[in-house]
Amino acid sequence: MALKNINPTTTSAWQKITNHFAENKNINIKDLMKDENRKDDFSIELDDLLVDFSKNRITQETLSLLVELAEEVGLKEAIESQFSGEIINATEGRAVLHTALRSTSEEPVLVNGKNIKPQIQTALRKIKSFSNKVISGKWKGYTGKSITDIVNVGIGGSDLGPDMVVESLQFYKNQLTTHFVSNVDGDHVSEIIKKLNPETTLFVIVSKTFTTQETISNAETLKNWFLKSATIFDIPKHFVAVSTNLEAVDSFGIDKKNVFPMWNWVGGRFSLWSAVGLSISLSVGYDNYRLLLDGAEEMDIHYRNTEFNKNIPVVLALISVWYNNFYLAETEAVLPYSQYLKKLPDYLQQAIMESNGKGVDRNGDKIDYQTGTIVWGSTGTNMQHAFMQLVHQGTKLIPTDFIGYKESLYGLTDHHKKLMSNYYGQMEALAFGKTKEEVHLELKFSGDQDKINTLLPFKVFEGNRPSNAILFDKLTPKSLGKLIALYEHKIFTQGVLWNIYSYDQFGVELGKELAKKLLNNQ
Ligand code: F6P
Repeated sequence: MALKNINPTTTSAWQKITNHFAENKNINIKDLMKDENRKDDFSIELDDLLVDFSKNRITQETLSLLVELAEEVGLKEAIESQFSGEIINATEGRAVLHTALRSTSEEPVLVNGKNIKPQIQTALRKIKSFSNKVISGKWKGYTGKSITDIVNVGIGGSDLGPDMVVESLQFYKNQLTTHFVSNVDGDHVSEIIKKLNPETTLFVIVSKTFTTQETISNAETLKNWFLKSATIFDIPKHFVAVSTNLEAVDSFGIDKKNVFPMWNWVGGRFSLWSAVGLSISLSVGYDNYRLLLDGAEEMDIHYRNTEFNKNIPVVLALISVWYNNFYLAETEAVLPYSQYLKKLPDYLQQAIMESNGKGVDRNGDKIDYQTGTIVWGSTGTNMQHAFMQLVHQGTKLIPTDFIGYKESLYGLTDHHKKLMSNYYGQMEALAFGKTKEEVHLELKFSGDQDKINTLLPFKVFEGNRPSNAILFDKLTPKSLGKLIALYEHKIFTQGVLWNIYSYDQFGVELGKELAKKLLNNQ
């Protein structure tokens, strides 16, 4: 069964939400927070994760109307269609099964009538045994030395996911040094080459198509550099590939035994759970990689089985639609209070914007309502000294996700207390602001009475700026898996609500074609 095709603005729920918005658009978070049960009523817990969405311009009625919308557009059926392998990526004629990659259940998932679970297990075993050999030093380079450096060569989904996860899980890393080359800018690969020794480097070429200009150019440059000191017979010891295009991998010169599979039923930006995550497994070991998958699976089970008003990805998606389509907020900020997660906003930009940046609906008709949000962000507390001025006092409404951890990894509790007081302080400042009266009193008490007339308006914070607190106990491979899967499901939920296809990306093609033409004309 394909996804339903319902223009959300024609539903009765949309009409109700429109009326509800007209009556309630001026509600103030400060007033809403006076209800002492609000925090409990507007929070969802899932083991080590607590999502507090109380500081939003929503009431119980808003939430139930949004849930009604989700029901009316057939979200429940859409989720089932995705998990069970129906061809929901209709424009590319593909199933969408990143969830099957992390599933530990025995339940078969059929693609073209064939259960894909056995091939996933085979690929995982191959990732495990290869990672173990390289990490333990048993895998030798062409001069008999063990591997010290891994270079992941890929772009987009073949780079951003593994790069972000390896960075985020640095605490769990082994002795191998991992590098990522993505840009066709030759200075990128040249800077990496400077750090490498051909005798001890393993290149992981990741490309679903194995035709992507950037990846193939970088892989060729690296191979030529390698062949300055080694021979083509040494390539199998130093080059492996992750791809669906076995022919192209073969003509590049990579040994068939060194090819890890990818499948058409996994989209590039959702592929870190497949062998695209090989450099993750090499960096933190297979057991940690499996824990990452386990965390994602836990979120999958929650998403698939939980009623919508208690379903974390669904609730966050609905709140985001409320701001995007009714308040017409254009952007959302993702603000992790962990330096480890500094690459998360970049990763989410591809996941969210390549998926939901669509202007035609499932009929192919031009859409006259807003779809994909612009996502951006950076880590706290750094960004407090950068762009938060605009979020607090600027003219734009910017809903925010604050991601935090109860515990730090190295202890240093003094630092962590400071970090977390900033985490909570920022959300409070956004929600409650500072009134004229408060500023007045403050200036009076600080002896700046004479400045009241000139300074007062500049020191007022109007507040009523929304945030979600996404709080985990600790940054672990498992909690990271859960976090990534949370956003993946939020993306799909929004795609369903907006009646778009989230899993194609035709918008990246035109620029590529023109670049090719220009290159050929040079
Ligand atoms: O940017 C477009 C895109 O197709 C992404 O979706 C994908 O992740 C990336 O290019 C890389 O593609 P490939 O893995 O085929 O090299």
